[in-house]
Amino acid sequence: MFKIVNLTAKVDNRLILDNFNLQINDGEIHVIMGHNGVGKSTLCKIIMNDRNYEVLNGQVIFNGVNLHELPTYEIARQGIMLISQNPISIEGVTNAEVLRTALREMTNEKINIFDFNKKMEDICDQLKLSKDFIHKDINVGASGGERKKIELLHMGILEPKLLLLDELDSGLDVDAMRDVANFINEYHNKTKCSILIITHHPNIINYIKPNFIHVLDQGHIIKTGDAHLAEEIENHGFFGVNAMSEEGQDE
Ligand SMILES: Nc1ncnc2c1ncn2[C@@H]1O[C@H](COP(=O)(O)OP(=O)(O)OP(=O)(O)O)[C@@H](O)[C@H]1O
Ligand SMILES: [Mg+2]
Repeated sequence: MFKIVNLTAKVDNRLILDNFNLQINDGEIHVIMGHNGVGKSTLCKIIMNDRNYEVLNGQVIFNGVNLHELPTYEIARQGIMLISQNPISIEGVTNAEVLRTALREMTNEKINIFDFNKKMEDICDQLKLSKDFIHKDINVGASGGERKKIELLHMGILEPKLLLLDELDSGLDVDAMRDVANFINEYHNKTKCSILIITHHPNIINYIKPNFIHVLDQGHIIKTGDAHLAEEIENHGFFGVNAMSEEGQDE
C-alpha cells in the first residue's frame, strides 16, 4: 500500500504542497488532474526524493517504509518507477546496458542474455518501437513519443509495483496512445501493480480505467470522484469544479 500523509513541501521558497494526503491500495489506479503549475510533477519528484524539493512536514510510505529516508536509487529498488513528463537523454550508456545492470542489482541473479534480449525485443514489438533503440544511448536522438515508449521498455523489464506516469499522454499520437495503453493495461492485469496517472486529458482515462480521479488545487486534493469527474472538468474547467466543491463544503 502507498500512502502520503499530511505532506507539506516547498520549492524555491514557495509552498507547493500543503497538507497533501493520498492513499493508493495495491492494484488501484488513481488519476491526478490540476492546472499548470499546481504541483503535480513536484509531487512525483518528492515521491522519488528529489533533493531540490524541501519537505517541511509529512510522510510518504510504501509498504510500511518511509521513502523520505531513502535515496532515489533505493526507492526505485523498492519497486517505484517514475516516467517523467520530459524524459531526459543520457549519453554514454545504452538502454540494454543500464537495464541489464539494474536488473542484476535488483534480483541479485545472473541475467540470461538470450532471455533478456528476447524480452526487450518482444516489448519493442508490443510498443511498436524500433528495436534499434535497445542498443542506443538512453533517449538520445529519440522523438518525444519514442522517449515515452523507451521509458515503458524500462518499465517492462524492471517491473515496478507502483508506476507514476507524469503526462505519459503528452507527445503520443492517437495510435501510439492506444499501443501504450494496451501495454500498460496488460502489465496491470498481469502484475496487479498500482498506478498514479497525471494528465490534463480525459482521453487517457478512456483507455486506462481508473478507480479514482482527484483534483489537486492549493496544495492538496480538493475533490475526488470516478471517471465522470474528468468529464465535469472537461465541461466546466478546474475553476468550475473548484467552485462546486466549495459550494458542497458550505452546505
Ligand atoms: N526545481 C524547481 N525550481 C523552482 N521552481 C520549481 C521547480 N520545480 C517546480 N517549480 C515550480 O513549482 C510549481 C509547480 O510545478 P510543477 O512542475 O509541479 O507543476 P505541474 O502541476 O506539474 O504543471 P504542468 O501541468 O504544467 O506540468 C511551478 O510554479 C513551478 O514553476
Ligand atoms: Mg508537470
